[in-house]
Amino acid sequence: MNVLKNYWELGSRVADIVEHVLALPEPKLILPTGSTPLSLYKELVNRQLDWSSVTTYNLDEYVDNTIQDQSYRYFMVENLFKHTNMDEDNIYFPGDTAVWPQMDYGIGVDLCLLGIGGNGHIAFNEPGSSFQSETRIVDLTEETIKDNSRFFPTIDDVPTQAVTMGLKSIMSSKKIVLMVSGEHKLNIMNVAMAGEVTESVPASILQNHKNVKIYYCE
Ligand code: PGA
Repeated sequence: MNVLKNYWELGSRVADIVEHVLALPEPKLILPTGSTPLSLYKELVNRQLDWSSVTTYNLDEYVDNTIQDQSYRYFMVENLFKHTNMDEDNIYFPGDTAVWPQMDYGIGVDLCLLGIGGNGHIAFNEPGSSFQSETRIVDLTEETIKDNSRFFPTIDDVPTQAVTMGLKSIMSSKKIVLMVSGEHKLNIMNVAMAGEVTESVPASILQNHKNVKIYYCE
């Protein structure tokens, strides 16, 4: 595990990894939303990198979301995509069912960036998700709905379902970087990375991946 001095250093160190991957021919990335990757996206925008041949797949998207500026597509456009020279045709979200087979079989993703939820979820693979899971619609747990309510006017506005890339799909990435920001995530991170590998803690599946790096800051 890499322990960083602060949130901005976390963004900068992970940006180094992304920059390296962007130099590959036709790189493919899986990207997260949430508060954790914001310093990374700011740093990537500042670096003004060449995204013209990059393909990105986002991990998840809400279903039946009525607050459009809380959609994950909106988040990505605002925080990253619109500041780069990305080809819009190379941006994929799992809300589009046509892209599911691509997400599940042999995308050949070079780098998957992840955050972790307070209950150990990765993407919206909530506790109990099968390690064999593929892209699908899921019900969000009460804990996740509560966690995400900070972004919505009221808790009743938080969607109760999402489309998420599955654990099997995530694990097929060549390299995975888990970003963890805040002491409140320390316990679940330790449980996931050093405890039992179990579907009750979805992130624990990462222990079975050969190329995972963890970046943590308080
Ligand atoms: P956060 O969410 O980055 O907003 O903490 C991470 C997650 O729930 O996967």
